[in-house]
Amino acid sequence: MNGLQIKDILALPGDSREIAVDGWVRTKRESKNVCFLELSDGSSINNIQVVVDLSSRDLADVIEKITTGSSIRASGFLVQSQGSEQSVEIAAKAISIYGTAPADEYPLQKKRHSFEFLREIAHLRARTNTFGAIARVRSSMSFAIHSFFQERGFVYVHTPIITGSDCEGAGQMFQVTTLPLENPPMKDGAIDYSEDFFGKKASLTVSGQLEGETYATALSRVYTFGPTFRAENSNTSRHLAEFWMIEPEIAFCDIHGNMDLAEEFIKYILTWLLEKCPDDMQFFNTRIDREIITTLRGIIDNRFERITYTEAISLLEKSGENFEFPVHWGSDLQSEHERYITEKVFKKPVIITDYPKEIKAFYMKLNDDGKTVRAMDVLVPRLGEIIGGSEREADYSTLKKRMIDLGLNPEDYWWYLDLRRFGSVPHAGFGLGFERLIQFVTGMQNIRDVIPYPRCVKTLEF
Ligand code: 4AD
Ligand code: MG
Repeated sequence: MNGLQIKDILALPGDSREIAVDGWVRTKRESKNVCFLELSDGSSINNIQVVVDLSSRDLADVIEKITTGSSIRASGFLVQSQGSEQSVEIAAKAISIYGTAPADEYPLQKKRHSFEFLREIAHLRARTNTFGAIARVRSSMSFAIHSFFQERGFVYVHTPIITGSDCEGAGQMFQVTTLPLENPPMKDGAIDYSEDFFGKKASLTVSGQLEGETYATALSRVYTFGPTFRAENSNTSRHLAEFWMIEPEIAFCDIHGNMDLAEEFIKYILTWLLEKCPDDMQFFNTRIDREIITTLRGIIDNRFERITYTEAISLLEKSGENFEFPVHWGSDLQSEHERYITEKVFKKPVIITDYPKEIKAFYMKLNDDGKTVRAMDVLVPRLGEIIGGSEREADYSTLKKRMIDLGLNPEDYWWYLDLRRFGSVPHAGFGLGFERLIQFVTGMQNIRDVIPYPRCVKTLEF
């Protein structure tokens, strides 16, 4: 491992100190006597320029073999740059090649490739400016998320990936099995899961919430941050089959405390991003979305609007818009509706509460009207829903009845119901989709471009 990363070197004064740098060549420009290499090691959106004097025979020989994508070590003197693009550059004394990248085969030759093309070479796309920046933003945002919760006394809980229960009750689970698919054991005309690995049907989790609740009702404040899986047949720019979710769960908390936490949380991590990733954010602002920094600042500085589902429906009915999906009280909000409310009506994030119970999950607290539940979705401009959450049903009989009404078998959830039998408390929580967040803060159009290896319907190359 070399001592200094390029991001650190770029901050040094050009005092002619001797220095060595490792990286991949982004571009090579040659004139008669001099060659300029742009070198990246992924530590920053900014490259370091290496200036090579071609009158040196040794250097000229090495330079000849170097093409875009080659990995090299350049050593020399760190000097004040002549050009305006950068403050310091390396006047090369010696260059050695780790690996070449044949120009006729290495696919990243052009300065700009389409995101569709780059998805096909996902193993190389982190070497581009955009995907390098996304990787750094993802990493920094993960740290911000842990920092927010740790500072507030939340305990990080690792909920299971393989589960026996469907949290959202939406039947969108990937099954996990070791049974032979061609010839599964049968009993009474159905597959005999008693012979499966776990002795029962198992799936990949869609959410860590239910297990999160078991820890919240012991440790009071917990959060999860892990992968979740949904076999949704949604081929959209905001759905993945594998995505990461952050789920805080708080005991002794109602929906108002939950909304306050969600708002504080979003503002904290956006502030963090603008502070810790200024160069990458400047890049997104220049190349991806010219409004992105202003948008994020606006979100940090303004209070989120809070309205009920019933109010949202009446705004949509009065809108005069020609929506693809017509709205009426009882219908689920589609992304076009969510965007209308955040972009056209309020021009800022909106928290919508108290949805009809028919369109929300079984665990949400039933309101006194018997028709709506204490759900809260946080919607943001351009994207729609970024957070889904609720106050949880804390009453044993009401919860059990909701399960039965929705066709769930309460016996499968005996441990979850136990939380309502032993020291039940009001509690609430929410889930933030990590990739939706990254999509939102970078201005990237497609969720497949903000996770290293997207998993979607009919797509699994890597
Ligand atoms: O609204 P959802 O389904 O809520 C839950 O899973 C709750 N158990 C959370 C909780 O209360 N603890 O999902 C939460 C968030 C959504 O708001 C969205 O940001 C993201 O997860 N999400 C997806 N992101 C990418 N691809 C998908 N297919 C997603 N489905 C949900
Ligand atoms: Mg939701």
